[in-house]
Amino acid sequence: MEAIEVKDLSKSFNGLTAVNRVTFTVHQGEIFGFLGPNGAGKTTTVRMLTGVLKPDAGEARVRGHDLKTDLVKAKAVLGVVPETANAYGDLTAWGNLMLIASLYGIPRRDGEQRAARLLTEFGLYERRASKVKGFSKGMKQRLMLAMALVSNPEVLFLDEPTSGLDVQSARAIRQKIRALRDEGRTVFLTSHNMQEVSMLCDRVGIINRGQMVALESPEILRHRIGGTVTVEFSFDKTPSSTPPGAERIGDAYRLYTTEPHEVISSIMGFATRNGLKLISVNVQSPSLEDVFVKLTGGAPE
Ligand SMILES: Nc1ncnc2c1ncn2[C@@H]1O[C@H](COP(=O)(O)OP(=O)(O)OP(=O)(O)O)[C@@H](O)[C@H]1O
Ligand SMILES: [Mg+2]
Repeated sequence: MEAIEVKDLSKSFNGLTAVNRVTFTVHQGEIFGFLGPNGAGKTTTVRMLTGVLKPDAGEARVRGHDLKTDLVKAKAVLGVVPETANAYGDLTAWGNLMLIASLYGIPRRDGEQRAARLLTEFGLYERRASKVKGFSKGMKQRLMLAMALVSNPEVLFLDEPTSGLDVQSARAIRQKIRALRDEGRTVFLTSHNMQEVSMLCDRVGIINRGQMVALESPEILRHRIGGTVTVEFSFDKTPSSTPPGAERIGDAYRLYTTEPHEVISSIMGFATRNGLKLISVNVQSPSLEDVFVKLTGGAPE
């Protein structure tokens, strides 16, 4: 059974189409990255898939439970860290977790055990009796992840879980995401951090203006923009003219090519003819960011 199945899902707000006939499938046990520029429709999709927002049209299933006819069952197997904080500021960290546990009908003892384990895991146990309104952004984010995990969800939706976090907190969250996948759980991850998505995700969906424009593994996506690679190189001295076809980047040069081998020999020839020594050469395949910019029509840098 697939973890998430979405078919022709659509949502408009006062005539503005936020999500336009989106179709995709997320397999069980994978980390699925959901990328798109601001306003592309990511959060709207997450809100529909987690039962917060009713779709105008289309179908969606989470672990086989139709969101239209079996919303309660679907909600029982999913967890969510929404884009905006959902913890109650006037409750303590402990109080928030216990509230979720009771909403899910988890027996008190179990709830307490899970809460203690999760708070410890996310480095919040010492602060369990503090009101959440005094928490820093990173603490709130970690608490929200703990809240999403109290019910032991099979499918976890994370809407930009690491945005604005320090390196350690972001890392801890990424490690947790991997650990969840290793337990066979499914993670639906929205992020603007291309490196994070490249590192973590098994497959990536890109949404632009409400429509899916790509769905592939990060590796295949990178190859989709052709075999173009970037060759960056520098010399020991500044040459009197720019090497043919290259652009200057700081004190180095950059070339885009599908034939790195030939380009490198011609750079060597250029160096020899001009009495220069090549001091660095770097060949890079396109990054997910290059692909993203190309597919979502952003202005190149
Ligand atoms: N409740 C709402 N009422 C009116 N318009 C909305 C509402 N929610 C979302 N929209 C609109 O739908 C579009 C998609 O918004 P959404 O929040 O899904 O984007 P996003 O991809 O999550 O963007 P970001 O990366 O900025 O979080 C935007 O144009 C937004 O203004
Ligand atoms: Mg969003």
